[in-house]
This record gives sequence, structure tokens and C-alpha cells, in this order.
Amino acid sequence: MTTPGPLADEPTQQTDLDYPLLDATHPLNGSVGRSAPLIAAALRRPVAHTPVWFMRQAGRSLPEYRKVREGVPMLESCFRTDLVTEITLQPVRRYGVDAAIFFSDIVVPLKAIGVNLDIAPGVGPVVAEPFRRETDVARLRALDEADVLPITAAVRDLVVELGPTPLIGFAGAPFTLASYLIEGGPSRDHAQTKALMYGQPAVWHALLGALADIAGQYLRLQVLAGASAVQLFDSWVGALAPRDYREYVMPHSTRALSHVADLRVPRIHFGVGTGELLADMRDVGTDVVGVDFRVPLSEAARRVGPNHSVQGNLDPAILFADIETVETQVRRVLDDARGLPGHIFNLGHGVLPATNPDVLARVVELVHENEQHAQP
Ligand code: CP3
Repeated sequence: MTTPGPLADEPTQQTDLDYPLLDATHPLNGSVGRSAPLIAAALRRPVAHTPVWFMRQAGRSLPEYRKVREGVPMLESCFRTDLVTEITLQPVRRYGVDAAIFFSDIVVPLKAIGVNLDIAPGVGPVVAEPFRRETDVARLRALDEADVLPITAAVRDLVVELGPTPLIGFAGAPFTLASYLIEGGPSRDHAQTKALMYGQPAVWHALLGALADIAGQYLRLQVLAGASAVQLFDSWVGALAPRDYREYVMPHSTRALSHVADLRVPRIHFGVGTGELLADMRDVGTDVVGVDFRVPLSEAARRVGPNHSVQGNLDPAILFADIETVETQVRRVLDDARGLPGHIFNLGHGVLPATNPDVLARVVELVHENEQHAQP
């Protein structure tokens, strides 16, 4: 006779949960935690196929995105629960990718605490009064749950719609956020940013410390609302030498990710041109190191060692070549990752706006077909 007991899927106590600090209804405590290839690859567990998603898959190249965004400014769309939900789902419906990336922008939490900034079409974030002096640090304050209610509402709606597909939450890392605040907009050389970093280190550390807590709190709110992984984007930190990364950036990126460490959610950390920084970026509390297209995945894996997964790294420009070339290059990335303990297929940077969505659909198909690349 069998003894009546709790159903396997219904833990009786919080402590029975795989992720005890997250709700029983959180996707990580359900099918996402048990079987999503993205989570398995991030934790270097066996997977049925290599998971794939694309940075900037939401928005940009999709005609259905341009349609729903008609007449709605970018930042306004980021604070509209219905639009965030719809735009985040669009690439999942179209491509069958293994993860949704939350539709938002790295400057959204700064806007939410009252920083006067905008996202200019074709330009990126622009800040009305750049941050250059000690007194500017006081223009930042802690991010509170109440500042981002339409956003956490979208996360809650999304995880219901997504079912077994994980939602990746994200934030900008302190350096990349600081570069926009200090420059006042996008910059190639980061001259003002570096001038402040080297010339006024106390102001620098105060600014990055505040940004670390804002970014970390933003990640935490997304995870508590239902995100199953987080990505910290330090897009422009490749502008620094390793020694300066360690002194001026690493403590702050570590602090940002420490805000979600107890939740045990997989943490992905990515930057462009960061080949020389990969081991340091691993050490800020990362599970998965994102790799741009300049470093082969096998070499990246050698640099980060066997206890971390890698994500990447097809050059997004390759998607503009003929389809046979695209297929060859996708196979090259898969071959390069063969035998690694954990690989998440992605581009080496975001989807370019003029990318043909049919090509991305073919990439997903190819990655999924390659079962021989299933990780150990
Ligand atoms: O990945 C996704 O699909 C989710 C959405 C997302 C956006 N921005 C939407 C967006 C994500 C993850 C970001 C992060 C982001 N924003 C980063 C880090 C990632 C990276 O690519 O390195 C950075 C550096 C930014 C700052 C930013 N915002 C830039 C450089 C731009 C591009 C300006 C342009 O138009 O060329 C933006 C605007 C932006 N963010 C758009 C989207 C869809 C385009 C705005 C529009 O469609 O009007």
C-alpha cells in the first residue's frame, strides 16, 4: 500500500523548494528550473540541445515590433506593461528561441528614479545634464519597488505567457551606465568617463557604488517577479585595460551581482571587446561569461575554466551574408563549442536593425538540429 503524501509538484514547506527564497510559483521552482535548456546549460547540466537566444532579439529588426511601436517613444514603451509584454513575446513566438529577454533598456531604472534622460532614435541614451562632479552623485537615489511597478507587472504577466520558456532579466553594469551619465550620450573613446575615473577616483567610486545598488536592486526585483536568469551588460567596459578594470570596475560589478546571489539565479555577464577581461568578469559572481565574436569560444572557455559556461558568439554581421555562409558560420561556432561543459548559443553582440528575421529563424533551427552538440 502506498502512503498518501504530498504530490511531487507541491512542496509542503518553503524549504522543499529548489530555490527556497523564490515563491513556490516562480518558474525556477517549476518546469523552467527542472527542464529549460538555458538553465541547464548555465549550470553545466546535461541538455537535449544547445539553447539559443539573441541579444536584442526583442525589437529592432521585427516588423511586428515596428508596428506596435508606431508613435510610441522608446522610453514610454518601456513603462507600458502591455507593450513590454507583447514585444518580449514577439521573438519567442516567431523564432522558438530558448529564452525571452525582457524588453527594456539599461537606462530604464535611471529614468525610474528621476534622472532626466531620453533614448533618441538611432542614437541611444542621451542625458540632459551629464554627471561630472561630486555633487552629481547626489542626483542618484536608491531604486524602490514602487518606481518600477509597470515593469514588474510585465514580468508577472510574461512568465504566465511563457510557461516553460525562461525569461532573462537584465541591467546595465555600473561602468556602462556611468559612461552614458558622464558622457551625456554614446561615446567612442569614453574620454570624459576615463578623465573622471583617473582624475577624481573618489567621485568615480561613489558614482559606481550608487549605480551598482540601482542595477542590483533592479535585477532583484525582476527575479522576484519571475525572471529565471539575469544578464548584466557591461557593453563598453572593453575600453579598459585589465588592471584598471580590477581597480575601478570590478568591486562595483561584484556589488551589483551580489544583490541576487542569495536567490541562486543563473547570472550571465557580457561585454564587447572584453577578451582580455574574461577571467576578471567571471570573478564578479558570474555563472555564464558572454563572449563577443573576437575570441573563439574554445579559447574563451580556456580563459574562464571548467566551472563556468560560455555564451556566444556569432558575429551579427554574418547574418547579412548568403544563407549557405550563415549556415557554415553557425556550424563553426557549434564546432568550436563542442565538448564544453556549458554553452548557450548567441550572437557576439546585439541583432543589427536591418537583419532579416528569416535568417535568425534559420539559425535557431540549425542550432536545435545539432543534437550531437548536446552538452555532457
Ligand atoms: O535584447 C533585447 O532584445 C531586449 C531589449 C534591449 C534594449 N536595449 C532595447 C532597445 C536591451 C537588452 C538593451 C540593452 C542596452 N541598451 C545596452 C546593452 C546591450 C548592448 O547592446 O550592448 C546598451 C548599451 C543600451 C543603450 C542603447 N539603447 C543603445 C546603444 C541603443 C541603440 C540606439 C539605436 O537606435 O541604434 C538603445 C536604444 C534601444 N534599446 C532600442 C531598443 C529596441 C532601439 C530603440 C527604438 O527601436 O526606437
